[in-house]
Amino acid sequence: PLATCSLALVAPAEKGLEFPRYDGKDRVLDINDRNYRKAMNKYSMLCLLYHEPIPDSKELQKKHQMTEMVLELVAQVLEEKDIGFGMVDAKKDAKVAKKLGLDEVDSVYVFKEDRVIEFDGLLSANTMTEFLLDLLEDPVEVLDNALELKAFNRMDEEIRLVGFFKNQESEHFEAFKEAAEQFQPYIKFFATFEKTVAKQLTLKMNEVDFYEPFMEEPVTIPEKPHSEEELVAFITKHRRPTLRKLRAEDMFETWEDDIEGIHIVAFAEEEDPDGFEFLEILKEVARDNTHLPDLSIVWIDPDDFSLLIPYWEKTFKVDLFRPQIGVVNVTDADSVWMAMDDEEDLPTAQELEDWIEDVLSGKVNTEDDDEEDDDDDDDDDDDDDDDDDEDDDDDDDDDDDDDDDSDEDEDDDDDDDDDDDDE
Ligand SMILES: *[C@@H]1O[C@H](CO)[C@@H](O)[C@H](O)[C@H]1NC(C)=O
Repeated sequence: PLATCSLALVAPAEKGLEFPRYDGKDRVLDINDRNYRKAMNKYSMLCLLYHEPIPDSKELQKKHQMTEMVLELVAQVLEEKDIGFGMVDAKKDAKVAKKLGLDEVDSVYVFKEDRVIEFDGLLSANTMTEFLLDLLEDPVEVLDNALELKAFNRMDEEIRLVGFFKNQESEHFEAFKEAAEQFQPYIKFFATFEKTVAKQLTLKMNEVDFYEPFMEEPVTIPEKPHSEEELVAFITKHRRPTLRKLRAEDMFETWEDDIEGIHIVAFAEEEDPDGFEFLEILKEVARDNTHLPDLSIVWIDPDDFSLLIPYWEKTFKVDLFRPQIGVVNVTDADSVWMAMDDEEDLPTAQELEDWIEDVLSGKVNTEDDDEEDDDDDDDDDDDDDDDDDEDDDDDDDDDDDDDDDSDEDEDDDDDDDDDDDDE
């Protein structure tokens, strides 16, 4: 109650940090057979959530409303950007969905000119807003000088392409731009028209370099100049990097891009000294092994996914305050983790490389210990029962607290505050 009181008094006094809150106005359209064309024509971009039929149960309806609220808030924040928002019901609006080519339920599709961009990321207002703002920008960023080049060089977590062209009117730049549109905003495209910048990038006229994340040297796309199709084909072929960072904006797409049912996952907090050191070792190993087509390590910085930390710790049974690397089976989330024997000692690059080799050869896998489990079934069952009981107890305890009373108290206090203000 004290906190509410001081907030109520202080908040109106200062300006400049007013965090947007949903104002209650309906901006998200209920898309159907009759209005979808008009919506498509009206906005420069149309952002549609394709969702499961609205359920009968109150609880599931609430869940649906929460998702809709995310879209409403994004629509409110981006109100001036000429973006339309809508919901498409998988059952009621099946006809429209088919016409528009929506097929993955609970996905967001963005229609921009003649392109459809699927958003396969975290459905939060922050992530969605960033994604849509990125889509509004030019698909190619131009590097004019050494300072911009420096910023480019720092983006080593991203897949990037950079090309050197005569000028904006060049047909080869045009092809590059067309290719960029197909990967926006997931893959970053840069171009320069300046000889000095091109020289520092060691680019010849009409040449395009492809930068894999965390690698020191780019790959020059062979046989310049390139048509749009050639660029798209090259990127599609080389898109899966040896080491990639899980990002909120395409986390589900990344996770779906498993390699024969598994991911090699590394957890490391970049801000943490051990995490940082482990990452440096991981990058070194990735650079030395980037020739292996079946090697793709997903690096997750737990700081980026706070809401998932308890779930991961429970599912994978690892301590995420320490760096970890393991194999995860994406079918059942079964996992094995590299033993880092000495608490203090991180693995050397060689030890990490040996472990990765064992994973790729199948020597380290998620299934071996399953067979052991089968041998002593009885023990396992007992363990499971115990766990369940404990969980139940925990839940009960939480609910026992005096929720009702405290709520009422707060209401009373709020009323008092209002009175004070009036006087
Ligand atoms: C992943 O788990 C599933 C289900 O338990 C199993 O059938 C499959 O063989 C596993 N895949 C790998 C690569 O271990």
